[in-house]
Amino acid sequence: MPRILIVDDEPTVLNLLNKILTVQGYKTTPASNGEKALQLLQTEKFDLLISDINMTPINGMELLSKASESYATMGVIMLTAYGTVGTAVEAMKQGAFDYITKPFKLDELILTVQRALEYTNAITENKTLKAQIEHKEQLEGIVAKAPNMCKVCDMIERVAPTNTTILVYGESGTGKELVARALHRYSPRKDKTFMAVNCAALPAQLMESEMFGHVKGAFTGASSKKIGLFEAANGGTLFLDEISTMPVDIQSKLLRVLQDKKIRKVGSSIHTDVDVRIIAASNEKLENLIEQNKFREDLYYRLSVISIDIPPLRKRPEDIPPLINHILRREIGPDAELPLIDRSAQEILENYNWPGNVRELENTIQHAITFAQDSIITKDTLPAKLVDAVEEGIRAGVITSRREQHKGKSLKAFLHDKEKEFLKRTIETVSGDKEKAAKKLGISLATLYRKLPQKK
Ligand SMILES: Nc1ncnc2c1ncn2[C@@H]1O[C@H](COP(=O)(O)OP(=O)(O)OP(=O)(O)O)[C@@H](O)[C@H]1O
Ligand SMILES: [Mg+2]
Repeated sequence: MPRILIVDDEPTVLNLLNKILTVQGYKTTPASNGEKALQLLQTEKFDLLISDINMTPINGMELLSKASESYATMGVIMLTAYGTVGTAVEAMKQGAFDYITKPFKLDELILTVQRALEYTNAITENKTLKAQIEHKEQLEGIVAKAPNMCKVCDMIERVAPTNTTILVYGESGTGKELVARALHRYSPRKDKTFMAVNCAALPAQLMESEMFGHVKGAFTGASSKKIGLFEAANGGTLFLDEISTMPVDIQSKLLRVLQDKKIRKVGSSIHTDVDVRIIAASNEKLENLIEQNKFREDLYYRLSVISIDIPPLRKRPEDIPPLINHILRREIGPDAELPLIDRSAQEILENYNWPGNVRELENTIQHAITFAQDSIITKDTLPAKLVDAVEEGIRAGVITSRREQHKGKSLKAFLHDKEKEFLKRTIETVSGDKEKAAKKLGISLATLYRKLPQKK
């Protein structure tokens, strides 16, 4: 039976929570302040902590920081009054699973508690397994090796199971939609619809009826009724891409829907319940648009409860080689041998600054595959614009080429590194099959093992 520690200095709230959760079959322990809670945490084990934020002398945030030191696998839900959602968001950044605003709705409370417990359960079971898999492809389909991108994956794992609205930031082509889809896939809504809509692609006059639907005869041309995106995504996730381009009047309507969880079709007076999780994306910081009165501040606060910043590719160069492999594998099929990338091409790919990010890398690799002969990607198979940009950068001294970085090393060390790189790549081209790799290299398996670095 899951054990829940409830902390609140308002006796009515404490008793109410205690009753509700006991009826739900949980073993609850109420504590009327943070100090008592801390004492209990030292002597007993709990699966979930539900704590008010506003308490004295130890407030919810202090309790959270102290509790997370001792219990990495305990879930935490913060309770917060309506005006202090900002603090709750801060709490989530520090590891709380979710928050509930007071006064809370019964079903919302029960669902949030269930989800938090399921999640902590999964974490405990997964801990050992996860340590083994490490960072390669943390989340299915998302390549992440660089620490800043691994952080993004951690964040996705942490916030996906909640119901919270999420704002995804990133330059064009960084993977905003990929992240949004992952957030859906790792949420309890995964079996329901994921709807993506690009706000910039919808004409302003049509946007309201596209989003909320319309009744027959609502306006000239509305010859039949129409289901809006919210209804179509009911139970699932609605991804609002390029939210910054949404007209201000539609922003007001969206805000209402987020608050009331009800929509009203154009031309109708009836409000219908909808249960949709919103993930919004933008490549522009919305704060800047608020100043110019192009984005409603209240909507911004609603949407940005959690924001995920995807770093541009040039800020995570470690991701480039695994991304290239990932793209090659996808383009070429699961069983075919991957083409080799020679040094000249590798130098360009790793030194280019990728203004179009991963999408540009994808296009480049497709281009290279088309022009590659004998399954070798050379400099000549890459788009000229890329090659020129890097070579110009090296000439101007803006880019230090990898070859330059190797200067100063002894020839032996240099060759040793190159050999290691070459062996690793060859092994990757045959999907990790060392026997095949040895054959391809013309050496014995034993020699291959000897030459390989001891630990990968
Ligand atoms: N970390 C990653 N691992 C694997 N593939 C990725 C990664 N990041 C992006 N991609 C791929 O790059 C392409 C672009 O990603 P996506 O469409 O999600 O970017 P975006 O930020 O929405 O772009 P835009 O701003 O142009 O709409 C997709 O094909 C996606 O699968
Ligand atoms: Mg996109």
